[in-house]
Amino acid sequence: MEIQRPRGTRDFLFNEMKERKCVESTMRQIFETYGYGEIKTPIFEELSLFTTKSGEGIKDQIYHFQDKGGRDLALRPELTAPVARMYIKELQKTPKPVKMYYFGSCFRYERPQAGRFRQFWQFGCELIGGKSPGSEAEVISMAAHCLEELGLKDFEIHIGNLGILRNILNDANIMGDMQDQVMGIIDKGDVDELAKLLEDIDVDNNSKELLLKLIGMKGNSSIIKDVEALINCSEHACNALFELEELLKSLEAFGFSDYVVNLGIARGLDYYSGTVFEIYVHGLGAQKQISGGGTYNLIEVFGGENVESTGFAFGFDRVMDALKKQEKFIKTKPSVEVFVAPIKNDLKLKAFEIAQKLRKNGISTDVDLVGKKLKKVLSYADNLKINYVVLVGARDLEQGNVTVKDMISGEQETVSIVNIAKLLKQKIES
Ligand code: HAM
Repeated sequence: MEIQRPRGTRDFLFNEMKERKCVESTMRQIFETYGYGEIKTPIFEELSLFTTKSGEGIKDQIYHFQDKGGRDLALRPELTAPVARMYIKELQKTPKPVKMYYFGSCFRYERPQAGRFRQFWQFGCELIGGKSPGSEAEVISMAAHCLEELGLKDFEIHIGNLGILRNILNDANIMGDMQDQVMGIIDKGDVDELAKLLEDIDVDNNSKELLLKLIGMKGNSSIIKDVEALINCSEHACNALFELEELLKSLEAFGFSDYVVNLGIARGLDYYSGTVFEIYVHGLGAQKQISGGGTYNLIEVFGGENVESTGFAFGFDRVMDALKKQEKFIKTKPSVEVFVAPIKNDLKLKAFEIAQKLRKNGISTDVDLVGKKLKKVLSYADNLKINYVVLVGARDLEQGNVTVKDMISGEQETVSIVNIAKLLKQKIES
């Protein structure tokens, strides 16, 4: 019986892993340039970490189970709540803001499709104690910087503020669970469903029109004035607009002005409190959102201090898909540069010795371990695209030499074993 991979999961083979590592290391490098330090939290957490804010309904969307001790646990669907939990236990006394980044797998019980998996990876950050427009702007600029560094083209960063929408809903007396339901539909971007729900719950025509108009508003910073003219600028709504305006000014100072103000962004997760943003890459189909984030207040919900924070996570798999679709060739080195082959089996110990000498000199080297025929060794090296084969033969050895075969040109040269590491290094680096 062939055992299948679980639905919505993937295996990654050598080349793909190399490409993923390459992207991961670029992201790490950029995040660290902005002063973020890496942290790691467990893959599974207490179930209540995710139900406390989101309610029991979230159980349908996640993997949860009881362990042998009867504890209710869940595989993490995201990392913001785990990081908030960790912060309360370990970092509350650390001077703020605390800048953390993470890379890890997340699990969601979703209907798998292109770009939507049950196990996927997030590369993200949390800036705890950093709500100011400056913090939000820095986080958004870092996301843009990362994508630029990776060479991704045509990504769009859409920025909104939940305060504006929530205030209109409050004014229209749409509160509590009903407000969350409306925000959920706005997040899905389903205008017809929204119009129908507003009709069903008897929202007055003015509020309905205003809401439908607002969620369709997209553009550059000049939109702020249009929104101001449109809404009844109650104190809260004005604060939210002012926050947005300040954020855009800071973003420009960070050198990023290629954003889209989009008041239709509602975000699916319910811990966000103000600024929110999403990054889209067209050409990825329905799963075009490669990143999402914003400002939230979760620490207090979990019993910690009242501290606002901001952050985002790249959907790592979607970033990989976008790079591939744009044929961004991710340059990867061959994993093995040199193959050491004894011409006869009785020279294999000498071959091991030479291979080890090369490895100790930092050259990635493979060696024939099982006594293959030379022809097979050469075709194996060829298959793996190894550029140099070191042939270890009795006659050469008598003179303290080996033969280096260049697999691309076919040329061979005799080299003293004393110099072999130096020579190969030069060849590989040239
Ligand atoms: P999120 O938008 O739910 O936000 O997820 C972040 C990103 O993960 C999404 O933009 C998407 O690219 C990717 N993603 C989500 N679900 C899947 C899936 N099933 N398969 C593949 N990729 C997926 C968060 O999780 C927040 N914790 C982000 C955040 C950090 N907010 C503040 N700090």
